[in-house]
Amino acid sequence: MITGAGRGIGRAVALAFAGQGCSVALVARTRGELEEVAAEISTLKGRALVLPCDVADPGVVQEAAEKALNAFGRVDILVNNAGYACFKPVWELSLEEWRRSLDVNLTSAFLFCRALLPHMMERRSGRIINMSSVTGLKALPEQGAYCAAKHALNGWTKSLALELRPYNIAVHAVCPGGVDTRFSREAMPHRDKSGWMQPEDIAHTVLHLATLSPRVALDIVSLRRFAGEPLA
Ligand SMILES: NC(=O)c1ccc[n+]([C@@H]2O[C@H](COP(=O)([O-])OP(=O)(O)OC[C@H]3O[C@@H](n4cnc5c(N)ncnc54)[C@H](OP(=O)(O)O)[C@@H]3O)[C@@H](O)[C@H]2O)c1
Repeated sequence: MITGAGRGIGRAVALAFAGQGCSVALVARTRGELEEVAAEISTLKGRALVLPCDVADPGVVQEAAEKALNAFGRVDILVNNAGYACFKPVWELSLEEWRRSLDVNLTSAFLFCRALLPHMMERRSGRIINMSSVTGLKALPEQGAYCAAKHALNGWTKSLALELRPYNIAVHAVCPGGVDTRFSREAMPHRDKSGWMQPEDIAHTVLHLATLSPRVALDIVSLRRFAGEPLA
């Protein structure tokens, strides 16, 4: 089950998993984009379920999770990827934008986990991969709400990884630097994106995490541009 699967990183993750023979449940608000991804998956002879929903809405998240469980019988891997950026200085940020940032980047992951974890725990098997950001590891000006949400997502990931170890469920957070997507083009229109990572680069890492040996614990994974972003 992949949130934010209509374009960008989530779309690339969906295609990567479908390419490995996984059935995928695709979540985002825009049905048309999800249907385009589902059509690409069906040309790969894969199976995709389109579940349009706002990940910040607790009622519809529960409903989407139940639809995926009913359609596939189980959900093995949850990728909490949907995100929201509102980059401006704190004195220009409204309470609504602050709350939206926490709801979409952080609380949505909690909501999907709450909906799917009982089933994973019962089967003593599962993977949760949260799409965080380099902004979850370091501070950047004018990104306060996003920075707070992604730092919290990393903290929560680390706690959840410990909590779920007895149930054989692995939890990871991926922290990319700049990736060339609509999100970064809209949030940082003036930045030169040449040499930035592509969605497929991040999808490759997500796929690797999902297939990591159960003997390996790897909670936070940081991905920077080879040229341009210093390693923390
Ligand atoms: N691009 C970067 O440089 C970068 C770097 C580090 C981390 N990230 C993280 O990577 C993740 C994906 O970003 P991206 O760059 O791939 O962005 P993107 O290309 O804009 O894709 C974002 C996806 O999330 C969906 N989405 C957004 N808000 C949603 C909501 N409230 N409910 C359901 N779906 C929602 C969008 O669909 P709808 O609009 O149709 O809902 C879309 O499918 C985000 O968590 C972001 O923070 C990105």
